[in-house]
Amino acid sequence: MKVLVLGSGGREHALVWKLAQSPAVSRLWCAPGNAGTAMEVTRSGAPVVNVAIPADDLDGLLAFARREQPDLTVVGPDNPLALGVVERFQAAGFTIWGPNQRAAQFESSKAFSQDFMERHGIPTAKSGTFADPVAAKRFCATLGGRCAVKADGLALGKGVLLAGNAAEAERAVDEIMVDKAFGSAGARVVVQEFLEGMEISLHALCDGKTAKLFPTAQDHKRALDGDQGLNTGGMGTYSPAPFLTDAELADVGRQILNPWLAGCAADGIDFRGLLYPGVMLTKSGPKVIEFNARFGDPETQVYLPRLENDLVELLLASAEGRLADVELKWSPNACVCVVLASGGYPGSYAKGKVIHGLDQANALPGVKVFHAGTATKDGQTVTSGGRGLGVTAWAPTLRAARDQAYAAANVICFEGIQYRRDIAAKGLR
Ligand code: AMP
Ligand code: GLY
Repeated sequence: MKVLVLGSGGREHALVWKLAQSPAVSRLWCAPGNAGTAMEVTRSGAPVVNVAIPADDLDGLLAFARREQPDLTVVGPDNPLALGVVERFQAAGFTIWGPNQRAAQFESSKAFSQDFMERHGIPTAKSGTFADPVAAKRFCATLGGRCAVKADGLALGKGVLLAGNAAEAERAVDEIMVDKAFGSAGARVVVQEFLEGMEISLHALCDGKTAKLFPTAQDHKRALDGDQGLNTGGMGTYSPAPFLTDAELADVGRQILNPWLAGCAADGIDFRGLLYPGVMLTKSGPKVIEFNARFGDPETQVYLPRLENDLVELLLASAEGRLADVELKWSPNACVCVVLASGGYPGSYAKGKVIHGLDQANALPGVKVFHAGTATKDGQTVTSGGRGLGVTAWAPTLRAARDQAYAAANVICFEGIQYRRDIAAKGLR
């Protein structure tokens, strides 16, 4: 079977790595991919091929698909989903995995998600949606200024500003709605009450009728140790996150997914793909702070090494509405991913720095270095993005997985390398 993966980050390298292990896959492309995706080989020995088409160039991707006839296309990032890549491919007769444009609104519009959650009784923050900055500020004031102000649309994971008092909240509203810091994504804002608690990532594979919950994971969004510094795309993850027993996780899953599935049925939303709720475990129960409509990055890097199923079978079952018969199987190992970033990220940073030590790191037992922002130049692997690598390790305990991930991270170097030293620390406390 021929498979095309869209995207170029660490998530996509992990997807390619896992798909390449399937005996069903004979050819594998990644558009556009990174230096790491191009180093993978399918079980039948075919090298994975990067295709130089951006993941949001729908015309270019369709032309490629018409030429090469992939049997399955797997969408990694949110942008092509929001642009409607799924219906474009389906209309041309191709099987593609991911939610259609309407279903992808769970991520592409926070106002859509918030309205859906409130109408269908999904536990979430007290909130309001506004197109007028004066009304938004008035609502912030009713929360004492302690709130999250969120641009409605896609903003590269950056459209959320947290405020601790009225002045900060007013500034946040102005930044998004008046100064248009996130462009047209900020034409409307969702203001949520500020929630306290432990934040976890949930993932559920869905087929339009059924949702299969993954184990827990926890991301580390801030750039610096101790959750200091700016918000990033994610500086590291681990799974499982030991804040819920299996029974509690099942219960949290039911509280969120049962009304979500019923709401989708009532509203005629056919969600086939990955639902990723960001959840705050508050004193008054779990609350969804946002939905994403794709695999998390770097959550994928810790989920897929633990997944024992054939990923091709799972994604086909999701796309074809057959998930009810499928059982997800997970390794009892813990898994930790430490992101190695370029100095300055998430602000400006240099590119093209030669990366040393990749082979030594990958040779350590229970280690896989997933590439994110990397490229090949003159036969060398160089940095090409803010998040360069996701050094991932698995072991029977979280402590051992954490130690092994850092042992591997320590043998990798490039000029300006920057990473957090406290990934998984909350889970070990
Ligand atoms: P989001 O992109 O919506 O996940 O928001 C980015 C980050 O802001 C989240 O990972 C949380 O750490 C934080 N955040 C978002 N909403 C809230 C909220 N209502 N209360 C507290 N923190 C929040
Ligand atoms: N882990 C953060 C994200 O994928 O949005």
